[in-house]
Amino acid sequence: MSTKPKYIILLGPPASGKGTQAALLHDHLGVPHVASGDLFRYNLKNNTPLGIQAKAYMDKGELVPDDITIGMVMDRLSRPDCEDGALLDGFPRTIAQAEALGKALAEKGQEVTRVLNIVVPDEILVERVTGRRLCKTCGASYHIKFKPPKQEGICDLDGGELYQRDDDTEETVGNRLRVYWEQTSPLIDYYQEKGILVDVDGNQDIAEVTEALKEALADL
Ligand code: AP5
Ligand code: MG
Repeated sequence: MSTKPKYIILLGPPASGKGTQAALLHDHLGVPHVASGDLFRYNLKNNTPLGIQAKAYMDKGELVPDDITIGMVMDRLSRPDCEDGALLDGFPRTIAQAEALGKALAEKGQEVTRVLNIVVPDEILVERVTGRRLCKTCGASYHIKFKPPKQEGICDLDGGELYQRDDDTEETVGNRLRVYWEQTSPLIDYYQEKGILVDVDGNQDIAEVTEALKEALADL
């Protein structure tokens, strides 16, 4: 693997496996996992002004406005641990966010290295969303059917209590998918035109998706 900074984007609809795969891949790539949704949830948990602003949008499954989101993610990317790159999960989600990211990286003489587009049919995503459970303390992600914890309701890693995200309901998931197709899916063409997008089949076992993603990054 080369030592050039690696800025890799995991693109995909809600519950396509971005967070699951990022947790498995970031060590392999030697870059931090930067997830805009996790940054918002951290702010929400700590009742920061940013968290309070974002909550209303998140609860409805709408995108948080670009200016708030771009500022938050750029601040994260400016920290020293992102100097060698980052594995971006959930950002960018609009053309304006993609342009802001490209511009910020260009100012440092860098660029997005690759975009991994995780493809999963919508009907599979609804079951994934409603069955997802997360650890209250470490954020590890489970699924009641596809990735159950050893003991129901308890995190395998640190014994933390598992909970369901407020936006992981059947009512909200429809809107999240609509928002994805309207506002985020144009990024597929945007990055395809730049010649850096690779489609990966996300409708297979978690370990198989990881292998496919590693293969799509093998030349970096
Ligand atoms: P965010 O947290 O990014 O949510 P999302 O995009 O809806 O994606 P998810 O986290 O739901 O899915 P994932 O792809 O990470 O799937 P996971 O691996 O967990 O955003 C939340 C909200 O924040 C947004 O709605 C918006 O309001 C706001 N926001 C965030 N970023 C923003 C931005 N850039 N701009 C504006 N607003 C923004 O997997 C899902 C489940 O499936 C898990 O239970 C998992 O165990 C299971 N699973 C995973 N892979 C497989 C597999 N291969 N087979 C079977 N099950 C699987
Ligand atoms: Mg996620």
